[in-house]
Amino acid sequence: MSGTALASPPLALEMRNIVKTYPGVKALEGVSLQVAPGEIHALLGENGAGKSTLMKILAGAQPKDSGDILIDGQTVLIDSPQKAMDLGVSIIYQEFNLVPYLNVAENIYLGREPRAAIPGFVDFNTMYKDAQQIIDKLGVKIDVKTPVNRLSVAQQQMVEIGKATSRKSKIIVMDEPSATLTDHELVALFALMRQLKSEGVAIVYISHRMEEIFEVCDRVTIMRDGKWIATENIGSLTREGIIKLMVGRELTQMIPKVAADIGDVALEVKNISRKGALKNVSISVKKGEVLGIAGLVGAGRTELARVIFGADPFDSGEILLFGKPVKIKSPQDAIKLGIGLVTEDRKQQGLVLGMAVRENISLANLDALSKFNFIMSAKEKEVSNKFVGELRVKTPTIEQTVQNLSGGNQQKVVLAKWLFTDSKVLIFDEPTRGIDVGAKTEIYQLMNELAKTGAAIIMISSELPEVLGMSDRIMVMHEGRITGELSRAEATQEKIMHLATGGQ
Ligand SMILES: Nc1ncnc2c1ncn2[C@@H]1O[C@H](COP(=O)(O)OP(=O)(O)OP(=O)(O)O)[C@@H](O)[C@H]1O
Ligand SMILES: [Mg+2]
Repeated sequence: MSGTALASPPLALEMRNIVKTYPGVKALEGVSLQVAPGEIHALLGENGAGKSTLMKILAGAQPKDSGDILIDGQTVLIDSPQKAMDLGVSIIYQEFNLVPYLNVAENIYLGREPRAAIPGFVDFNTMYKDAQQIIDKLGVKIDVKTPVNRLSVAQQQMVEIGKATSRKSKIIVMDEPSATLTDHELVALFALMRQLKSEGVAIVYISHRMEEIFEVCDRVTIMRDGKWIATENIGSLTREGIIKLMVGRELTQMIPKVAADIGDVALEVKNISRKGALKNVSISVKKGEVLGIAGLVGAGRTELARVIFGADPFDSGEILLFGKPVKIKSPQDAIKLGIGLVTEDRKQQGLVLGMAVRENISLANLDALSKFNFIMSAKEKEVSNKFVGELRVKTPTIEQTVQNLSGGNQQKVVLAKWLFTDSKVLIFDEPTRGIDVGAKTEIYQLMNELAKTGAAIIMISSELPEVLGMSDRIMVMHEGRITGELSRAEATQEKIMHLATGGQ
């Protein structure tokens, strides 16, 4: 080095030419990334592009095949998560890393509990006090003595964020933290990110929601198929420009709604109530119709879906299928009657992570496949391959363990599983959460096709463009009640928001 005083400060993080292969998958083919101190850097790309893999290498959770990592201008060796932490790197994983039966404070301080005066003992008072402060600073109301498995997904995500940011890290990676957050928590997250930025922390932010990128990020790096494509200042890019770089082609129609022939009422829910969740909810959906259900998080939409699917009981009211009252006491009952539920929480309800893609797809419909109690594997393979192809699931073969797929591709497997059951009524709960822009369009197209074949679709979504774009009719919920119904023609963002906040 020449020792000139004019040299610009070193980058907080530099990753050079990172290469990584998994068996049968070239996940990274020479990817580079540079982040300055105090910069919020977006890492963008389609599902399976390699974003999480690159960050897992930085966090010491996966070894790289080759390439260099520099922190503050120095080449470093990161061969374990502990090493990464020691170097000031924190990561919030796309799939949570919390220990479910420990409480919030224990999770935040796992492995670095404050010591009491007596050797070998934890200073619980200090731990709870400090942990509560960390959580309060995030602007969410959680008692840190609550076991993590009793928290909602959004709350768990906030705990992850608290855990990572409490470590005084120089580099913080956030892998799709916003996918599960409500608006309120999102505001708190952005405030926290700006605070960290002002303290000189370098942040790598992964998200599929484009508005967020424009709101908080300084620069973006775009990846495609394991390759580096571009790094730009956010100011010099448009939304369309980013999408084009991400998918490598132009997406002309983001929400390609095709109206299907609407037939008789398929499912009718009459005056359903469930204590603390639903009050006198009545909805109906017809064959070929897409019924959108809008509302803020906590409005009771997921509760309604769970009741219809038999996952939760209800106190009063009734459910009719094609005009006949039906008893749905369990999800098995619902599936037998031809009702499917695509859940928002793929980890907990949608998939068996340790099983192959093929097995997961056929899980909900073993009846159709099994003859004399053994599974007709040729048929199973054929069907799995068909869905993997149609949904463009990025996987080397249908025998890949679902755990090894990228987050968005796991979500596609959840969808494939239900599409395969030939359900007459399909409930989609946040169907495109965590799904990249290109694949979203494919999912909408599948909905069009399902409707065309006469399926009745209930689509719960917090994304208003999706609700407005795909629904034939929209019901809006607020605090467990239906506050209004809008036709496709009359619905606007403003009208939905008015009803969703309790207006009549
Ligand atoms: N443990 C693993 N074993 C085998 N393949 C893997 C493993 N982890 C990831 N992959 C593969 O590596 C590729 C990159 O995956 P990665 O999780 O990095 O994608 P991503 O960009 O984070 O996608 P998403 O937006 O869906 O989260 C994918 O094809 C994925 O299937
Ligand atoms: Mg990922």
